[in-house]
Amino acid sequence: MNGVTGRMGYRQHLVRSILAIRDAGGLQLADGRRVVPEPILVGRNERKLADLAAQHGIERWTTDLDEALRDDSAPIYFDAQVTQAREKSIKAAIAAGKHIYTEKPTAESLEGALELARLAAEAGVKNGVVHDKLYLPGLVKLKRLIDGGFFGQILSVRGEFGYWVFEGDWQEAQRPSWNYRKEDGGGIVVDMFCHWSYVLENLFGRPEAVTAKAVTHIPTRIDEHGQPYPATADDAAYGIFELPGGVIAQINSSWAVRVYRDELVEFQVDGTEGSAVAGLRECKIQHRATTPKPVWNPDLPVTERFRDQWQVVPDNADLDNGFRAQWEQFLRHVLEDAPHAYDFLAGARGVQVAELGLQSSAEGRRIEIPEVTV
Ligand SMILES: NC(=O)c1ccc[n+]([C@@H]2O[C@H](COP(=O)([O-])OP(=O)(O)OC[C@H]3O[C@@H](n4cnc5c(N)ncnc54)[C@H](O)[C@@H]3O)[C@@H](O)[C@H]2O)c1
Repeated sequence: MNGVTGRMGYRQHLVRSILAIRDAGGLQLADGRRVVPEPILVGRNERKLADLAAQHGIERWTTDLDEALRDDSAPIYFDAQVTQAREKSIKAAIAAGKHIYTEKPTAESLEGALELARLAAEAGVKNGVVHDKLYLPGLVKLKRLIDGGFFGQILSVRGEFGYWVFEGDWQEAQRPSWNYRKEDGGGIVVDMFCHWSYVLENLFGRPEAVTAKAVTHIPTRIDEHGQPYPATADDAAYGIFELPGGVIAQINSSWAVRVYRDELVEFQVDGTEGSAVAGLRECKIQHRATTPKPVWNPDLPVTERFRDQWQVVPDNADLDNGFRAQWEQFLRHVLEDAPHAYDFLAGARGVQVAELGLQSSAEGRRIEIPEVTV
């Protein structure tokens, strides 16, 4: 596991996924076997790794990736490093014959992402990319509504993602500074459009065209050492995605917005038979039969409490941590050949949508998204 000292690597992948599976006595396979994952921590800082290993009772750690890749007892390489460091490490892992699971984006360019998919296919190693948003309880419930035909004909999707990321001057920034420097692989389009790509694709169909405007609202931020730096990457993006059947998805992503919503991300889906608003955890619906008939009259105060007219969709299932749920699927994929659809090619489609989104913004025009293959 490479990059486990980072935010995602530590919290979601090491602690809430791999160690949680280990501490639960392992993963039960279809044939009754239980498999307990034993990570080798890989990173750049010896002291941090040693502390982490000691804190969590992990025996093996190293600052030498090649040494870990030579270890035959470890069949899977996982990567949660900064995006820029990923391609090179994954190539080394493919060459070492490891199966690979990785954070998104898989690479910095579509070309790089497709090359990884090609190399993995040629080497015959299994490969997977984190698609965590699909496992969020709110989106699981939304998918259930779609599969159950709740919406009738789906017309449009509106997504709102973001929160205020502090500039770092009078309050510390809550995200690492590399995210705000283009030269270090930062930018909200690169970060979020790959999520929107797979969310849209798996719920409504593959995006066929993108029109986006990416901007840098906050031009200067303060880094981890208290030093000001120019924010060279986009911190907000306003995107329109055209989906099959004429469905229009419009998604705002911003680290310069204050939250007046129930959750940090929300998607509203409007269909002929009903509408839904899904967040990270919750999902609410309004059927056409219970839809109120507001009349536009700015001279009168609001006559109805619109939020109260929605109904909560029940969980109806045990909805576990999404990162852990996908880890379990990937482990089953490696160990017993169970299906796992979110491979390097799926990851490359996400990189493609981000790349074309940035191109759309730079050129000020709508761009079609061609289908890619390995
Ligand atoms: N799936 C998600 O929802 C989600 C959310 C946030 C980030 N991510 C992805 O996870 C990856 C890590 O993001 P993070 O927010 O955890 O970042 P982070 O800065 O907290 O962690 C980065 C990790 O990479 C390591 N690293 C290796 N080479 C480095 C270098 N040259 N410079 C700096 N760090 C280096 C660091 O030691 C650290 O372990 C990114 O690719 C990001 O796109 C995914």
